[in-house]
Amino acid sequence: MTSLGLEDQVVLVTGGNRGIGAAIVNLMNSLGAKVAYTYRSSENPQVGALAISADVTEPAGMEAVTEKVEEKLGPIYGVVANAGITRDNFFPKLTAANWDAVIDTNLKGVYNTLQPVIPKMYERRCGSIVCITSISGERGNLGQTNYAASKAGTIGLIKSLALEAARYGVRANAVSPGFIETDMLTPISDKVKQRILSEIPMGRFGKASEVAWAVAFLLSPVASSYVTGTVVRVNGAHHT
Ligand SMILES: NC(=O)c1ccc[n+]([C@@H]2O[C@H](COP(=O)([O-])OP(=O)(O)OC[C@H]3O[C@@H](n4cnc5c(N)ncnc54)[C@H](O)[C@@H]3O)[C@@H](O)[C@H]2O)c1
Repeated sequence: MTSLGLEDQVVLVTGGNRGIGAAIVNLMNSLGAKVAYTYRSSENPQVGALAISADVTEPAGMEAVTEKVEEKLGPIYGVVANAGITRDNFFPKLTAANWDAVIDTNLKGVYNTLQPVIPKMYERRCGSIVCITSISGERGNLGQTNYAASKAGTIGLIKSLALEAARYGVRANAVSPGFIETDMLTPISDKVKQRILSEIPMGRFGKASEVAWAVAFLLSPVASSYVTGTVVRVNGAHHT
């Protein structure tokens, strides 16, 4: 039988208690990985994974996460930088506080997540990083200048990191979801949802599990061993 080669590999997922992050945690579990995830509120504990309370905007806290995961589960092989927020508004009404909150979480949070673990991966000459970006970061979206900037930033980060990390045997990729049915869609009105749906050639929103499978592919040392510096789109042909 062929496998993705993730059995017993240690994988850390940020924001793993719900939505896309929870789907990634559960799929990794079922593929035999040793999974740790961070959460901010204790809602929805995920069975069979190490749960750590941590905020990606706090560098010291994220350093402690790496230490704790390695102490409890062993050397980290995979990191999924998934935690993210939206604070939407049209640009004239977008406050500096909402600009900063989104950039701090979605972009600086990825830096804080990866900074403690990348040197360890380089030393071990082994590792796979996956960052969850967004269709908004690739093509822009109404009311999301802050979010789109943060997500476009992660694409630049991942592409540059892939160039640097290749010589150390470490890969870095991004998954770019379109509109996925999670709590993140809750603030969008029904009218706007209908407009978005009419623009999606597959005629429906995506499922968190459909994003998780793309992550599994990119984490896999078997399936994607020569894939690095790429953005895999999971968007029903919403943006091609
Ligand atoms: N749902 C979508 O349509 C969609 C589309 C494209 C990209 N994304 C991205 O996918 C990722 C997951 O989103 P989701 O749809 O599951 O949303 P969600 O709101 O259900 O989950 C977001 C997760 O991030 C965590 N989080 C937020 N701020 C954090 C912080 N400061 N520190 C630690 N954790 C924090 C939350 O606790 C939660 O676990 C995000 O990066 C999001 O931008 C989502």
